[in-house]
Amino acid sequence: MEIQNIIKEKIKTVNTQLEEYMKHPDLAQNSIFNAMNYSLFAGGKRLRPIIMLLVCDMLGGDEKEVLPFACALEMIHTYSLIHDDLPAMDNDDLRRGKPTNHKVFGEAAAILAGDALLNMAFEITSSINTENPKRALRAISVLSKASGALGMIGGQVIDIESENKAISHDMLLNLHSLKTGAIIRAAGVIGAVMSGAGEDEIKAVDSYCLNLGLAFQIRDDILDVTGNEETLGKPIGSDSENHKTTFVTLFGLEKSKKAVDEYTGKAISSLSVFKEKAKELTDLANYLTNRSV
Ligand code: IPE
Ligand code: IPE
Ligand code: MG
Ligand code: MG
Ligand code: MG
Repeated sequence: MEIQNIIKEKIKTVNTQLEEYMKHPDLAQNSIFNAMNYSLFAGGKRLRPIIMLLVCDMLGGDEKEVLPFACALEMIHTYSLIHDDLPAMDNDDLRRGKPTNHKVFGEAAAILAGDALLNMAFEITSSINTENPKRALRAISVLSKASGALGMIGGQVIDIESENKAISHDMLLNLHSLKTGAIIRAAGVIGAVMSGAGEDEIKAVDSYCLNLGLAFQIRDDILDVTGNEETLGKPIGSDSENHKTTFVTLFGLEKSKKAVDEYTGKAISSLSVFKEKAKELTDLANYLTNRSV
């Protein structure tokens, strides 16, 4: 099957389950669900759940075991975007093709909606019905570490503290590996852990995701310069407005494009042990190199 069609199928699976998780009775605090749902269903690419589900397919895992984690990771990713757009952070007004959460619901509600999505992720993953509680516990540990000060939040801290400063190539790689790479690595590693993979297989998947995450964020840096706001669904020029060091400011567009290809190549070779079973994840990596969304 074409990767575009596989992506469509996975998005459907994830969205159906997310809708299920977001069902709630009529409550005095209904407004928080409105704010959470607004960003969650604004039409993200669902890349992280897609990676997790494709890793599960590659390893012959059971999708039912993985799907709660895929949804939880998308909730955490969505929360990170709501907070990333706040005036105190990147101060952006457009996300997923719609006004940002704080523009519609106000800053207090946007902060709380992000916090609530983060908490819901751990509520879902800690209450799953699984035949493998040991795997689930490890997956929850991976999820919490990847989202925290040693992972995505750590990257966001370096990102914010690096504004208006020249930072080195190594520091930029560290920043990108954390702010974007950590959650993408968690997608792969959790998919592998919940599918019963061995340690060497987990390592190979982790290496794929680390490199894919770098390629993905470098492409994001490029699109901040060359992208189209309508297609991308978020503002162009946010990085330069915030005086961020990106791959484009350090190396220019051409070298940045080469870097995307280089990290994509590294990602794909990490999967060589899986031979032809790695076809979908290979196709996904290639598909993402030229993305305009
Ligand atoms: C945006 O992530 C933030 C980055 C890590 C670059 P995505 O580009 O995956 O955003 P959505 O989920 O499709 O909105
Ligand atoms: C944000 O990176 C990564 C997150 C952890 C949310 P960016 O600030 O570059 O993401 P965009 O460009 O706003 O989506
Ligand atoms: Mg940011
Ligand atoms: Mg941003
Ligand atoms: Mg960006």
